[in-house]
Amino acid sequence: MIIAIDGPSGAGKSTVATAVARRLGFHCLDTGAMYRSIAWKAIQQGADLADEAAVGAIAQTFDIAFEHEEGDPRPSRVLIGGDDVTAAIRTAEIDRSVSVVSAHPSVRAALVEQQRRIAEGGDYVIEGRDIGTVVCPNAEVKVFLTATNEARARRRVAQNAERGVGSVDFEEVLADIIRRDELDSSRATAPLVQADDAVLVDSSDKTINEVIDAICAMADARA
Ligand code: C5P
Repeated sequence: MIIAIDGPSGAGKSTVATAVARRLGFHCLDTGAMYRSIAWKAIQQGADLADEAAVGAIAQTFDIAFEHEEGDPRPSRVLIGGDDVTAAIRTAEIDRSVSVVSAHPSVRAALVEQQRRIAEGGDYVIEGRDIGTVVCPNAEVKVFLTATNEARARRRVAQNAERGVGSVDFEEVLADIIRRDELDSSRATAPLVQADDAVLVDSSDKTINEVIDAICAMADARA
């Protein structure tokens, strides 16, 4: 079974996807971490992020790997071409750069292929922007998870503080997620959009547990 969770930055996708995967005994795939890894590699190689050919070549060359502790759906390490980028992909610099990289069709083609290959390996909760529309249009459960800008910025600040990486300045984080959503929603290839058959879940006034329960109930109904 595939459970697709799409939505804008900071809607709680990672937390919810991990908890749902844990409860159902599924694997978890964070596709945002893959786009972030390509942005990191491109910056490290001194590539011009707007240069589609250069960044696309990086996406075609380097495989992204997730390492897991036994029984934990959340990866303990993210690697690209053997480099451990677990913390490096969560910085404000990557937040600022990733949407330019993810707008390139050749980057998306390379990563969508990797994502489909991974998803064939079992039951997955996959989080991203285009999972229900492009990566897994036949997913059994499709959720579009959203929340108000302010709720999302508050959560992202708390998450950054907990991880010890990224900005903890509310206004800076709010400006970044608004700008990033605008770029992700307006790009020509696989924009952030709710799939026709996805269930809209607004998490602004819900607890994380309410959201998790709702998604697990949808999975139970399809099992
Ligand atoms: O989910 P996260 O905030 O880590 O995603 C980082 C960025 O990666 C998004 O802002 C978006 O530009 C890109 N992304 C995407 N398609 C996905 C997942 C992420 O374009 N499926």
